[in-house]
Amino acid sequence: MLRDALPKALERRRALLGRGTTQAFRVFSGPADGIDGVFIDVYGPGAVLIVYDDKAPRALEPGLEAAAALRILQPLGVRAVYLKPFSKDRSSLGGVLPPTATDPLPLAGEPLPKSILIREHDWLLEVRLYDGLSTGLFLDQRENRAFVADWIAALAAKRRARNAPAPAVLNTFAYTCAFSVAAAKAGAITTSVDVSARYLEWGERNFSHNSLDPAPHRFARMDTFDFLGYARKKALTYDLIILDPPSFATGSKKKGIRPWSSIADYARLVAESARLLNPQGVILACTNTQELCRPGRLEREISKGVGRPPKWITLPPPPTDFAHERGRFAARAFTA
Ligand SMILES: C[S@@+](CC[C@H](N)C(=O)[O-])C[C@H]1O[C@@H](n2cnc3c(N)ncnc32)[C@H](O)[C@@H]1O
Repeated sequence: MLRDALPKALERRRALLGRGTTQAFRVFSGPADGIDGVFIDVYGPGAVLIVYDDKAPRALEPGLEAAAALRILQPLGVRAVYLKPFSKDRSSLGGVLPPTATDPLPLAGEPLPKSILIREHDWLLEVRLYDGLSTGLFLDQRENRAFVADWIAALAAKRRARNAPAPAVLNTFAYTCAFSVAAAKAGAITTSVDVSARYLEWGERNFSHNSLDPAPHRFARMDTFDFLGYARKKALTYDLIILDPPSFATGSKKKGIRPWSSIADYARLVAESARLLNPQGVILACTNTQELCRPGRLEREISKGVGRPPKWITLPPPPTDFAHERGRFAARAFTA
């Protein structure tokens, strides 16, 4: 199936793939490229074939498709295709990862090292293609990371000219700290908050991969709302706050993690973040919650949180490789 559809998908992305600096893209986007439930992301020398078992054609044979994808992607430098199968009914797996998600042997091609570095714009990021169902990097946020870097670079230059302190950035739900790296490379002092020690360690490695000394930056293993409360008490303030939470997360009383639901909690997240914003500071609010991606819906939660409609700031358009998936992600930037 990919033998016919993938070359056409690459042709549609020709301008993007030829750009040179960035090495990680979505090269195949399910129904928008002609095969429902099938996505392919390229990360430098590796590609990930994502198959949703409830949507992909029944006749699809991942092994054959991976081999076809490898042949077609080889000219881009791809040497391995790994499979990540997503099951609609994850409970049927009893919490166990599908074996291919952790197998160092790809479905097609030669095995790659456990972690690889890919370049995106001005920064390098560590991705892991067989370390579970995620890779360590959300490609759909690429241009929003560029927005963060550009906005911080402009502010940092102004601050330097006045001998004023570097811009301060708070990155909540920071995961592997890709937004923080983009901000720090542009001259910010960052605080990355996440409940996962493993992801924050990965984030620190991402700083080191970019020759950024992690020492002046803060990596806080905390529940986001707890951190926002702590920051308020300590009178910490920020020039840019990034909100990019998951749709849901189960809490753990023992670990001090509250359950999170974007639909129930987004407005409060905005309200508590807005209190920490410096004058002229900006909040970047993102979501992949389907209901909040409906037209006007994220704006409504933000306005609820701020207490009135804020001043919106124009973000870059979604990258070409995600332009057909508009209903799956939403982001708005604003000054409170
Ligand atoms: C969708 S990822 C965030 C993506 C990230 N913003 C990026 O750009 O790469 C979700 C992250 O939220 C973290 N998380 C879940 N619940 C949390 C909570 N209550 N407080 C802080 N982090 C949380 C998870 O550990 C995970 O790293």
